Amino acid sequence: MPREPKKIVYMNNAATTWPKPSGVMEEVNRALSLPFIEEGRSTLSGQRNYPGETRELLADFFNAGPADHFVFTQNATDSLNMAIHGFLHHIGIPCHVITTWLEHNAVLRPLRTLEREGRISLSIIPFNERGYISPDTVKDAIREDTMLAVMTHGSNVLGTVQDISRIGENLRANGVFFIVDGAQTAGQMPIDLNPVPLNVFAFTGHKALFGIPGIGGFFIREPSQVDPVRQGGSGANSGYPYQVEEMPSRFEAGTHNYPGIASLYAGIRFLEERGIRNVERGTMEMAQLLISKLKTIDSIAIDNESPDLPIISFNIAGMEPDQVGFILARIYGIICRTGLHCAPLVHQRINGGKGSVRLSLSCMNTFEECEQVAEALSEVARGAG
Ligand SMILES: Cc1ncc(COP(=O)(O)O)c(C=O)c1O
Repeated sequence: MPREPKKIVYMNNAATTWPKPSGVMEEVNRALSLPFIEEGRSTLSGQRNYPGETRELLADFFNAGPADHFVFTQNATDSLNMAIHGFLHHIGIPCHVITTWLEHNAVLRPLRTLEREGRISLSIIPFNERGYISPDTVKDAIREDTMLAVMTHGSNVLGTVQDISRIGENLRANGVFFIVDGAQTAGQMPIDLNPVPLNVFAFTGHKALFGIPGIGGFFIREPSQVDPVRQGGSGANSGYPYQVEEMPSRFEAGTHNYPGIASLYAGIRFLEERGIRNVERGTMEMAQLLISKLKTIDSIAIDNESPDLPIISFNIAGMEPDQVGFILARIYGIICRTGLHCAPLVHQRINGGKGSVRLSLSCMNTFEECEQVAEALSEVARGAG
């Protein structure tokens, strides 16, 4: 007889964070309760200029600017597609592109599609045994026709954070445009973009930044290096027949997702109030506790025992990842993620392409929940033995 499910323990925060802070829900509600006000138009009392104020918050949070170089999109996938296609459209000739074995399909699929169409040639560089991309390997991969490099800041499987400053220096010295996928790091750790030699930083709003699904964005240092791949209304200069050049309208065609932007506004405010360093420290302490407990279970093999992000990927000997996920959810009320996590190449290198069980934490988790998950996994592993 299955036991009565316990209170839900949510550890799938690398997919999307849950629960959202109460301030996020209230802000979305507030945004929808008041009449819609377009960016730059006069506001009513009590109504915020969500796009404008959120861009200011983002510029401050990531220490990059000007604020209108922060563009709103649907998510990190949308941001990466806009930056990759927009840059290649701008240069207009086939070229060589560098990426890595750590990538999510949000990077791999656009690049592989371009490769299949003969518009780019692609080098996919390996990570080392600890899950890092060596800046020297990136440097060695640069060819005369290399114009673009796209890589993840934080791996959503191994939880490693890459040295984008050193990698970026080599790329910049060779005139290579550098797009960084910050989906897993934005909101989870302090990020100071100002000194980093990158050209585009893509982020998503619904993971560690605590916004709702459907909001994301990117920071672009020099907008003229990327063509807008979408054209449409911007609410200004409507008589002009083409997409306007001014930022941020250059990349933002159509009506904003303003409840989503409001959620991002409140998510960043929440992180500022807690302090991003406290958020990072707290989640990593919980992840380390959980790892230390899982390490004592013989049949559990953890892919990376010292991640930089609160992401724990593992397998239990004799069990498929999906089986483990099913038991955790149905018997213990523990929500995790199983499978390839949209990063198929990582698994090819670490576990023969089998996939894994992934626990991922946010600052809304507790130490008690970590104990509970460790206990449940110890029972599941005993059952498998
Ligand atoms: C490393 C990485 N890149 C990109 C994405 C895509 O993010 P989104 O679903 O918000 O587009 C994810 C999400 O899982 C991710 O982990």
